[in-house]
Amino acid sequence: MCGIVGYVGEKLAIPMVLECLKSLEYRGYDSAGVAYVDGKKLEVFKRVGKLKILSNFIENKIIPASCAIGHTRWATHGEPSEKNAHPHTDNLSVLALAHNGIIENFSALKKDLNTQGVEFYGETDTEVFAKLLQQNIFNENAIKSENYAMHSTMHNTIKVTKKCIIMAIKKTIMQCTGSYAVVFIFKGIDDVIFFAKNKSPLIIGESKYGKMLASDTPALLGKCEKFHTINDGEFGYISKRSICIYDKDFNKIKPYFMPIKLQLNEVILGEHQHFMQKEIEEGAKSVLDTLDRLDSQKILAKIPEQIFDINSNFYITACGTALHAGRIAKYLIENQLGESVDLDYASEFRYKRPQLNSRSVCLCISQSGETADTLSCLELSKEFGATTLAVVNVRGSRMESIADYIIPTSAGPEIAVASTKAYLAQLGAIYALIAHMAKIRNKSLDFSIDEIKSIVKANENVNYENELKEVVELIKNEESVYFVGRGLDYLLAMEASLKLKEITYIHSEALPAGELKHGSLALISEGCVVFAILTQSDLIEKTLNNVHELNSRGAKVVLFTPFIELKNFVYKLIKLPNVKNLLAPFVALKPLQTLAYLSAISKNLDPDKPRNLAKSVTVE
Ligand code: M6R
Repeated sequence: MCGIVGYVGEKLAIPMVLECLKSLEYRGYDSAGVAYVDGKKLEVFKRVGKLKILSNFIENKIIPASCAIGHTRWATHGEPSEKNAHPHTDNLSVLALAHNGIIENFSALKKDLNTQGVEFYGETDTEVFAKLLQQNIFNENAIKSENYAMHSTMHNTIKVTKKCIIMAIKKTIMQCTGSYAVVFIFKGIDDVIFFAKNKSPLIIGESKYGKMLASDTPALLGKCEKFHTINDGEFGYISKRSICIYDKDFNKIKPYFMPIKLQLNEVILGEHQHFMQKEIEEGAKSVLDTLDRLDSQKILAKIPEQIFDINSNFYITACGTALHAGRIAKYLIENQLGESVDLDYASEFRYKRPQLNSRSVCLCISQSGETADTLSCLELSKEFGATTLAVVNVRGSRMESIADYIIPTSAGPEIAVASTKAYLAQLGAIYALIAHMAKIRNKSLDFSIDEIKSIVKANENVNYENELKEVVELIKNEESVYFVGRGLDYLLAMEASLKLKEITYIHSEALPAGELKHGSLALISEGCVVFAILTQSDLIEKTLNNVHELNSRGAKVVLFTPFIELKNFVYKLIKLPNVKNLLAPFVALKPLQTLAYLSAISKNLDPDKPRNLAKSVTVE
């Protein structure tokens, strides 16, 4: 959460930083800020709300700075306000600092600084870091007479050099616990951006026009050709001419640059109105690309077979949509392989004392590979000697570097906060994993990977926008709706419900259809909209009974199903392609995702940036 950027080079730094921040807005959009240093001048601009507000404000200012940093915020500590927006400064305004992560011991540090007379203008942990850092910088002695900046305090005049700052960063990060990627500039030290990193992502980009620091590669696209990934515990600086990196033991590290493989068309809207719309359309491609890559690179075959031993204890954990993909994995392993699986929300998993040991296999699923809750489970599983597998979409993410084995998905960059194509890619990877496990066990399955490919290809261009218009009108002013289904359909209902509430702010609940009569039916009144999902041929009668129960209480049931003969029993039927029971997720998700998307549009909401949320949830 939170996106940070720094640029130093030949070009105008402020427009460059603003441009790059656009690609990081998916990490948070509560406020945005930039700061630059130019000779003796250090200036900060911040605005509450989306980046556009800040860009409009700065638009007509001509700032000839060649070194600047920027930040887009998802608020954790302190409300979204100008005073809590980054970059943060110290009491003497000699530095400006942007941060992604959480300084966990900030309260104690703040108290300590308070007793020394340091005052605070906001509530953030970042301001504490900035002020502690400034104090440590001023406590360093500039020994050599290299280029220095002179600063006057109440009592004396201080000489600050790059070396002083590096020593102060080293000290500050030893005093802080938690996660951080920080970048900062210092008044009087021109054309240098300092950084430190622990657990939050930070990369260095390089081009002939300059050097950059950023949270993620999309920010560097079109600006730099190559990037270096900074590791945990490392710190240093970039300047026009050099890059200096130290590891936690204060050894100098040589950067190792990799080409940026991302294509520009993967991160721009093209002819689409929103990224969510584009990404829903890319769902089929992401399944096919995932299956092709796993197959052509023999990724599953490279995982030692004994990991999939029948006697292993299998755990699955993830958050949000990724957990919903995990639920389908659990369903398939139990239904098709006859083995039991333990599954839980990552935020619950680690606190329930799971019985992990060296016979355990823990499967973590994550689009970003950065989700703090899921990462903690991965680390916990490793501590207990379990083998860890991770289904991850973002290459080079933290999860990729920690897990024992990676099962990569190939959805490409997913920018809308609501996960759509990444979920489908996760399903592709999961079905491939189950097929692989079945092969090791010599078991036959009720589906094949070739069948998945052919139904996905056949339905790639089906568009539900017209058919869903009436349904969108039906719910647009509703306060509450329900999704019901049985078996696999209930798992799809959970995902559909999350998608709808996340971007329309309509309260939505998913229920196993059979559970209605055990309590929730009390909530159904005349005109209440209930979405029923029925793709499982062996559950038609049972689910239909529940539809009748709903009809009797005046509900308007909208049924997503391939069985058109059920049309007369419901308010509206949305026809799905008829496929084998276990393959239903590959055809049922598109209309359900489209329903959420169109509903957000009808309410004039931005589906790509729902309120209070961010794409990568890097705090627990
Ligand atoms: O990056 P991850 O897959 O680990 O993210 C997990 C959830 O935060 C994510 O799926 C979230 O639920 C989505 N916004 C749902 O659309």
